[in-house]
Amino acid sequence: MSRDSSFGVYIHWPFCLSKCPYCDFNSHVRHTGIDEERYVRAFAAEIAATAERAPGRTVSSIFMGGGTPSLMKPETVGAILDTIGRHWAVAPDVEVTLEANPTSVEAARFRGYRAAGVNRVSLGVQALDDASLKGLGRLHTAQEALDAVKIARTVFERYSFDLIYARPGQTPQAWRTELERAIAEAAEHLSLYQLTIEQETPFAALHAAGKLVIPDDDHARELYDLTQEITAARGLPAYEISNHARPGAECRHNLVYWRYHEYAGVGPGAHGRLVIDGARHATATERRPESWLMRVEASGHGVTEDETLLLSEQADEFLLMGLRLSEGIDTRRYAAFAGHPLDAGRIAALGAEGMVEATQDGRLRVTRAGFPLLDAVVADLAA
Ligand SMILES: C[S@@+](CC[C@H](N)C(=O)[O-])C[C@H]1O[C@@H](n2cnc3c(N)ncnc32)[C@H](O)[C@@H]1O
Ligand code: SF4
Repeated sequence: MSRDSSFGVYIHWPFCLSKCPYCDFNSHVRHTGIDEERYVRAFAAEIAATAERAPGRTVSSIFMGGGTPSLMKPETVGAILDTIGRHWAVAPDVEVTLEANPTSVEAARFRGYRAAGVNRVSLGVQALDDASLKGLGRLHTAQEALDAVKIARTVFERYSFDLIYARPGQTPQAWRTELERAIAEAAEHLSLYQLTIEQETPFAALHAAGKLVIPDDDHARELYDLTQEITAARGLPAYEISNHARPGAECRHNLVYWRYHEYAGVGPGAHGRLVIDGARHATATERRPESWLMRVEASGHGVTEDETLLLSEQADEFLLMGLRLSEGIDTRRYAAFAGHPLDAGRIAALGAEGMVEATQDGRLRVTRAGFPLLDAVVADLAA
């Protein structure tokens, strides 16, 4: 599944109908309506400016994330995709993913997105029972979500959906039943995220006040182990800590990040990594939608940060991203960034603890037992 010439384009749509209390993504609610044509013009300008800095690439994947991109009109999606095609070559087998919320209103637009060029949807199902969905502040029911999955299955070649587990009060038995049900509905890909309490969200305040109790570490670990066991047995093993796919059906766009390839970030609060004249640039745009619009209208792009990464910083990022993958990393690539190989003594010590292992083709990967401690493993190797 290696695609070394991969180049991804990420497009951020920053609006949602309501803000979920656990979410700290760059997403905003606007009750006054959104001028999509104005955003289309701004996206076109920023895509043109990015292509000028990084010309000659062939786009292998496009990901429209959010926020809630399924609030965009299909014409908006089509216009953005057309602009990408005008500025870069696009691979014949390009993967074009759109994140969608599973309400009936949004599912009704799926055919329009397909006609516009989207060939994969990622649905934010989150839970398969109404009480949990209500607790998560979601606007859809479980039945509505399952109906959206059904429509996605008939309209798109590929689809995936997200679930959040380790929710308040979730027992291993309840999660087993829910996950089995989800696998029965999933074709090739599932994203399974453990609920995390993000700072400055309503969930963080409730958690701090003792009004929201989430599973403790042991309980969360039990749910994680169960997740690995069930998905592997059912042919959807983890290829990344939270992402599961049938072999060959991995999300190619996300692999661009984890394999540390190049990608452009377009739209409010989007991040990019572009290699320009041999130097890797970390870019980020203005987060607030209206401020981003004004910047783009004034100067042709919304980039507010553009940092040239040192080789040592690239080595750290490469390690951090690559060790999330079950395929692990090519240690020679690390050495090329860092200017020295990984510390053999540290690898041996982590190996003896069962945290990392060498693969048959000579790569280094984190073991299943090591994944829940990934941050510590990376910190140890990078030290
Ligand atoms: C950008 S959001 C999803 C897009 C879409 N707006 C939706 O909610 O369906 C990407 C995914 O991150 C996950 N997520 C967001 N916040 C989370 C949190 N605090 N803990 C665990 N998963 C979270 C959810 O599963 C969500 O579907
Ligand atoms: S989880 Fe999705 S719908 Fe909810 S606020 Fe975040 S981006 Fe918006």
